[in-house]
Amino acid sequence: MAATLLDGKAMAKAIQSEIAEEVADFIQNNATVPTLAAVLVGDDPASQVYVRNKRRSCERVGIESQMHRLPGDTSQDDLLQLIAKLNKDQTVHGILVQLPLPEQIDESQILQAINPLKDVDAFHPENVGRLVQGRPRFLPCTPHGVQQLLVRSQIETAGKHTVIVGRSDIVGKPLAAMLAARGPGGDATVTVCHSRTADLPAITRQADILVVAIGRANFVTAEMVKPGATVIDVGINRTDDGLAGDVDFNGVREVAGQVTPVPGGVGPLTVTMLLHNTLAAARLQAT
Ligand SMILES: NC(=O)c1ccc[n+]([C@@H]2O[C@H](COP(=O)([O-])OP(=O)(O)OC[C@H]3O[C@@H](n4cnc5c(N)ncnc54)[C@H](OP(=O)(O)O)[C@@H]3O)[C@@H](O)[C@H]2O)c1
Repeated sequence: MAATLLDGKAMAKAIQSEIAEEVADFIQNNATVPTLAAVLVGDDPASQVYVRNKRRSCERVGIESQMHRLPGDTSQDDLLQLIAKLNKDQTVHGILVQLPLPEQIDESQILQAINPLKDVDAFHPENVGRLVQGRPRFLPCTPHGVQQLLVRSQIETAGKHTVIVGRSDIVGKPLAAMLAARGPGGDATVTVCHSRTADLPAITRQADILVVAIGRANFVTAEMVKPGATVIDVGINRTDDGLAGDVDFNGVREVAGQVTPVPGGVGPLTVTMLLHNTLAAARLQAT
């Protein structure tokens, strides 16, 4: 029997309407509009699309967004100066620096320079540390989207073997911490796999919940999936046939219990969690 589709697009729409109501309440109570400053360095086409989508989503829920565009040859100091300015600006509640940055720029130094209270991507070491300690200020957007997808689809994580393929700072690592944390949407037994993992299919076949974030089109095939498992595909790969996930959707849907499509799975939830964090940042700064 074919797997149930986990419709991230519909879920994102529902969460965005909840956020829109909360934003309207916030504006009424604080006479301040939650505001996100997006910083885009260079003209990478994929980054431009991501930033445009994020700003459109802000608009839909009543969050104000600012665009700060810098040329591809911007220096580290110039970018740090812009961040210092945005850190001080009381009308800006969230700062998003679109990654990747050009190679002359030290990404980790830039992420560390963002005021942790405005760090809506949750990449600042202070926020990463808090997450690992189980007292998060903000949850990083993609892992939070994955967790919401599970929780709101009533897929139990407690006691389940969750295998995450990919150990990036943006997806795999923080997601492992979140799913292993105590509480709802957590309490899972987590295995993290990567490019040096031996016999990957033997491990992925043990997963009750399999999350794939590696950046290789259609890499996870039906033989790598336990019958009835939940498969969450984080991958976004541009191929000659259009966008593809890291999971061979057509094959895996014949084996899995639930599966996310690409597009329309995790992607829309990632953007939605950015809106959630921007409102949370505005609340933090209003108190
Ligand atoms: N849906 C969304 O909103 C969203 C958000 C973020 C990213 N993405 C997508 O998710 C994918 C992953 O992104 P990322 O930023 O996490 O990627 P990344 O930083 O490139 O990390 C990829 C990870 O996958 C592992 N890996 C690569 N090839 C592998 C293989 N053959 N077997 C096992 N593990 C392998 C790497 O292992 P090593 O550590 O050993 O190199 C690494 O840990 C990309 O397609 C990206 O576009 C989507």
